[in-house]
Parts: sequence; structure tokens; C-alpha cells
Amino acid sequence: MASPGNYPEYSYDSPSKNGITIFAIESSCDETSASVCRDGKILSNIIATQKIHEQYGGVVPELASRAHMQNIVPVVDTALQGANCLLEDIDAIAFTQSPGLIGSLLVGSQFAKSLSLALCKPLIAVHHMQAHVLANLIDDPKPKFPFLCLTVSGGHTQIVLCESPTQMKVIGETIDDAAGEAFDKSAKLMGLPYPGGPLIDKYAQSGDGEKFKFPEPQIAGLNFSFSGLKTSILYFLQNAGTSLIYKEEFRATEQDKQQFIGDNLADICASIQHRIVSILINKLKKAVAETGVTELCLAGGVSANSGLRKAFKETGEKNGWNTFIPAFEYCTDNAAMIAVTGYYKFLEGQFADLSVSASARAEW
Ligand code: KG4
Ligand code: ZN
Repeated sequence: MASPGNYPEYSYDSPSKNGITIFAIESSCDETSASVCRDGKILSNIIATQKIHEQYGGVVPELASRAHMQNIVPVVDTALQGANCLLEDIDAIAFTQSPGLIGSLLVGSQFAKSLSLALCKPLIAVHHMQAHVLANLIDDPKPKFPFLCLTVSGGHTQIVLCESPTQMKVIGETIDDAAGEAFDKSAKLMGLPYPGGPLIDKYAQSGDGEKFKFPEPQIAGLNFSFSGLKTSILYFLQNAGTSLIYKEEFRATEQDKQQFIGDNLADICASIQHRIVSILINKLKKAVAETGVTELCLAGGVSANSGLRKAFKETGEKNGWNTFIPAFEYCTDNAAMIAVTGYYKFLEGQFADLSVSASARAEW
């Protein structure tokens, strides 16, 4: 196994005597969230989840922006009250600058910029995916640097090498769908509502993950691919379980397909989950072998998946890794992770000026 090299011990102790208070806003997708943290410890984390998208089978960007507009003032007020914090107590305002839905990002970024201007307090622009990684620094025990983080969400699947709170690089990522998309699209193929990931997790509990053998893609290096898996699940369901490949003669009637799904829902869900988890864990093992880093973190909404959490812990125990998973509320989109990232950027003096603009896509 490779060696990670020499890294100085990082001290998490706050250099401030009076406490550094960061107020943060997250609005990159369909969660409107605000949080207050002091010296990296979370005092409040309020999340308004937008229910409106459920009926459309996915997030509708225009509706998400409108819901952010409605939610942002009450969410901000509740976060400040929950932390017993006045606006004048704030040392800096952090916000999600990228990546995400542009209309959604604009609501949070304009709000943060206005607050910064009105209060004459510095502004901190945060990369949403870096914040997912740093959710692992919220609670104790914290990982030592360098650590590897598997970030699995609805839009991203990445392995990140994190060398300090402000220095990280992506060493592997998906070349097509994200892991969360693989869960959600598979669920949709079975007629389950959005987001389907948590439902697959629920039905998988009573199923046999070895019953149906979906293929594991052979992708070079540390990158991932989930689109082939989605296609084989599509054909498998169209064929009512007789084959993973497309041939007109395998095609079942709609009635037989529905009957097959109804009779085998738990085993199908468990088998899909088993394959997605094995793809993720096998790449993580490869990343450990290539880097020699044995501090391992999970992040992103899919880290709520019970099969992934179990496999991650068990693989860690077997291979001598130190494993970390953020508390559930810090795995899905939340402003606490933005606040904590803002705190570490504050310590490094990484501020943005008012000309900063939200961006749907962003370089790491
Ligand atoms: O990080 P996140 O909240 O939002 C994005 O930035 O994308 O992740 C949302 C994704 C969705 O695809 C959702 O289905 C998935 O996380 N998810 C799960 C579970 N809980 C959330 N997937 C599988 N099992 C779960 N328990
Ligand atoms: Zn996210």
C-alpha cells in the first residue's frame, strides 16, 4: 500500500478567545436552511424541506426558487432565535455559492450579500461539495488529516482527498449518474415516488441482496459509472425478471411486469442497494490502496443509506480504517455544513467581496 507522506498534526482548537460566530445560508437545491456556529460548534441548524416536488417525480427548479423566496426569512429568523444570537453577534456570513440550481442559489446568495452589506460584516463563499466533506468536522471525534471522503449525493459521487479544512482534491468521480440518481431512477422505474433512495433502503431491509445479480461496471481508476446499472435494471423490470438484456421476445406485458415488481419488491430493492453499495465500497478500497490514507469519511444524502453505512463500518473494521459518518441531519443538505466550512475559511482569511456571484457549476 502507498504511504500518505508526512502531514503536520492539525489543531482543531479555536484561536479566538471570544468565539467566532458564523451565520450561514444553504439554498442550492430544494432545502432552505440557515445555521449559526460558534468556533465550529453548531448552535442552530434549521432546514425547510420543499414538499412540492414530490408530485413531479423530481425537483422542479422554478418551483424550488419560489419556495426558497417564501422560506428564507422565517428560516433565518428561526435559526438566529434557536442560537440565541443577534445580528450584531455575527462575525461573518457564509453562503453556498456553487454548485446547484442557479435560481435557488441566487435566493440564498442575494440574501447573504444583502445581509453582509447591511451589517458591514465579511462574506464567505462556500462550495457545496466541500461543505459536504467538512460536515465530518462538526461533531467529535473528528478525523485526522489527511482523510479520504466518499461524497454521495443526488448530484455527485466523489472520492475526495482532504489535506486540511481548506485544501482538498477530487481523486475520483462519476462519469455519468450520481449514486443518489442511481437510487432515485431505479425507484422511479419501479413506480416509487421521488426521492426513491430512502424507499429502496426501507424495502431492502427485508429483502435478499444476492437474489438478483446486477452487473458491476469495470471503470478505470477511481471513477464511477452508474448508467449501465440503470439500463440493466430497466431491461430486468421490462422482462419481468427473466433477463438483464434487451430482446423483444423477453419483453413481458405491463401486467406481468407490475406483478413481478409487487411480488419481489424487497428482493429487487435489496439487490439494487447491494450493487450500488459494492460499487462504492470497492472504489473506496482502491483509493485507500493507492493513497495509503486510512482515515475515511462518508458525506452526502446517500450516506443516510443503512446498507452503505453498515458496509462502510464493516469494511473499515476489517481493514483497520478509522471511519466517520456525520449525524443524519448533517448528511443531507443543511446550512450547518456551510457554517462550519465558513468557520475554517474565516480562520484562513478566505473572504469574498460583494461582486461574487452564484454559479450553477464550479471548479473545485
Ligand atoms: O445530499 P443530498 O441531500 O442532496 C444533494 O445535494 O443531491 O442527497 C439527496 C440524495 C437523493 O438522491 C436521495 O434519494 C438520497 O440522497 N438518499 C438516499 C437515502 N436518503 C437520501 N439514498 C439511499 N438511501 C437513503 N436512505
Ligand atoms: Zn448536497
